[in-house]
Amino acid sequence: MPAQHFTAMIVEETPPHSYSIRIGTRSIAELPPGEVLVKVHYSSLNWKDALAATGQPGVISKYPQTPGIDAAGEVVECTDGTYRPGGPVIVTSYDLGMDTSGGFGQYIRVPSSWVVPLPPGLSLRESMVLGTAGLTAGLMIGKLVGNGVKPPDGEILVTGATGGVGSIAVAVLAKAGYQVIAATGKASERDFLLSLGAAGVIGRDEVLVGADPPLMKERWAGVVDVVGGDTLAAAIKSTRYGGSVTCCGLVGSIHLAVSVLPFILRGVSLCGIDSVRCPMEPRRAAWEKLASEWKPDSLDSIGRECTLQDLEKEIRTILKGGVRGRVVVNLLKS
Ligand SMILES: NC(=O)c1ccc[n+]([C@@H]2O[C@H](COP(=O)([O-])OP(=O)(O)OC[C@H]3O[C@@H](n4cnc5c(N)ncnc54)[C@H](OP(=O)(O)O)[C@@H]3O)[C@@H](O)[C@H]2O)c1
Repeated sequence: MPAQHFTAMIVEETPPHSYSIRIGTRSIAELPPGEVLVKVHYSSLNWKDALAATGQPGVISKYPQTPGIDAAGEVVECTDGTYRPGGPVIVTSYDLGMDTSGGFGQYIRVPSSWVVPLPPGLSLRESMVLGTAGLTAGLMIGKLVGNGVKPPDGEILVTGATGGVGSIAVAVLAKAGYQVIAATGKASERDFLLSLGAAGVIGRDEVLVGADPPLMKERWAGVVDVVGGDTLAAAIKSTRYGGSVTCCGLVGSIHLAVSVLPFILRGVSLCGIDSVRCPMEPRRAAWEKLASEWKPDSLDSIGRECTLQDLEKEIRTILKGGVRGRVVVNLLKS
């Protein structure tokens, strides 16, 4: 029998449009319907969780709610028999941590169609060092590979490189043999990025130098971009003939102002990446790669652990672009 009550982060709305975070007690009975009840061992902090926890629009529509778009733990009950009790599983994205109580609580209940069995080669903790950020980085790199970008083709630019998606992208690309140039706003984290396998580190602003014309000097064979806006535009303009640019984020801006010239004169491809509704087949394939040939040797140095009680501080930091790597939430110690 699972515990009837558990500890969770609870975000409440104090109208009008004011939100507060507290650590409190919730009951299993109030979890939404779903086939699989999971005891969460680890979760992790993503940019989107910080938006959800501070009441910013577009993530949670009804409060009070427990955020956390990532969870890894053991199956407690599975009413359709797909998963055996005790089995280790990962649940990320779909509606988790949005209007479905999320991984910042010690239990979640979700449809069995959202569940990924933990692939061999990963521990539950390692799966949350990766989390949605790692899955997204994996999907972006899979897209570059699928578009024919190979290590000898040249440098790959990773923007927002010290962040969650960025740091894992740097480490996975380096592991896969690519020459990675990490663009960051944190000059002090140069050694960290080199330790992940970056071949070079440039300042965030360097990406934008000479970016006014519709085309820039060709440099990148491929791009992993989390920033959007002028950074993504400059990356597209400086991608080499036939190269591919993947974009998943908007930490800089949701807007993109480019001409069609990079696409029609250089055959550059721009590929949007979504991890939320990503179908199960590519999702599982990405997790399996991340657990084996793409598994970064530096996972331990990318992930830093905290408890639910410490999480609000980390949420404030990620909103300021200040987190390095990934914050793993230990629910067993919370
Ligand atoms: N499409 C999807 O499925 C999907 C999945 C996951 C994440 N995302 C999106 O990807 C983005 C990154 O997520 P994350 O979890 O990696 O966030 P994160 O850990 O906060 O990393 C973002 C990084 O971007 C850089 N940055 C922050 N503010 C910036 C600004 N104003 N201009 C330029 N760079 C800035 C910082 O790195 P440096 O200091 O090193 O520059 C920061 O650490 C978010 O927009 C998130 O919503 C999308």
